Amino acid sequence: MRGKLVIGNWKMNGSLEANRCLLQELLPPLAALKGVGVAVCPPFPYLAQVAGLLEGSGVALGAQNLNAAEKGAFTGEVAGGMLAELGCRYVLVGHSERRSLYGESDEAVAEKFEAALAAGLVPVLCVGETLAQRRDGSTEAVIAAQVRAVLQRVGSAAIAVAVVAYEPVWAIGTGETATPEQAQAVHRHIRALLGEADGVLAAATPILYGGSVKADNAAALFAQPDIDGGLIGGASLEAASFLAICQAAR
Ligand code: PGA
Repeated sequence: MRGKLVIGNWKMNGSLEANRCLLQELLPPLAALKGVGVAVCPPFPYLAQVAGLLEGSGVALGAQNLNAAEKGAFTGEVAGGMLAELGCRYVLVGHSERRSLYGESDEAVAEKFEAALAAGLVPVLCVGETLAQRRDGSTEAVIAAQVRAVLQRVGSAAIAVAVVAYEPVWAIGTGETATPEQAQAVHRHIRALLGEADGVLAAATPILYGGSVKADNAAALFAQPDIDGGLIGGASLEAASFLAICQAAR
């Protein structure tokens, strides 16, 4: 059975003080929340601090990106092994901001996905269409290309441990959310694509929805049969709203 999972993506936000305050408010009520996996992904410089704050809490640590190489002359980059050493369980790969602002292709994302697996991390593969792609009817094809690039590179090993996050680009940080029905249709499509590699594993792969998830729309999204939780940006920076979203996943 797939459990529910909620991951907070802090993006390039936070400070030593803000992180401490946020987790101080979040962790006690989260400790009382059973049956929902929770993780937070702070910026790289705060991973060690947040790892310390999360110790013993049951909340997992994740990173927002990694380099596909194991080590070497890649100034400014971070390897999967480093993230694992700092206590990360998850790492986002192919977030739409990485794809659009930093030119990460489907193939580059697949390489990062493979590197994450090699480092013992759980890759959270982010996929999603732009507004133009949705309008011209290519949503399913875009998602298929993004998912298949990974399956082609790593095969069914891809889905044995991975998480997928469907994040329509037009819904990220815009306040506009996919309706539960729109999201469910794409989630079903993603599960079918994974099923082409391995039906049994696909049935067990968590597929999260992301894109302007808030306390007041989370429950309806999470109630859909193929939506296994959320990847939360803006609303993960505020304790009350992130907590309410985690509670909606119960
Ligand atoms: P948002 O971001 O919740 O602020 O829309 C989601 C994401 O980009 O992961």
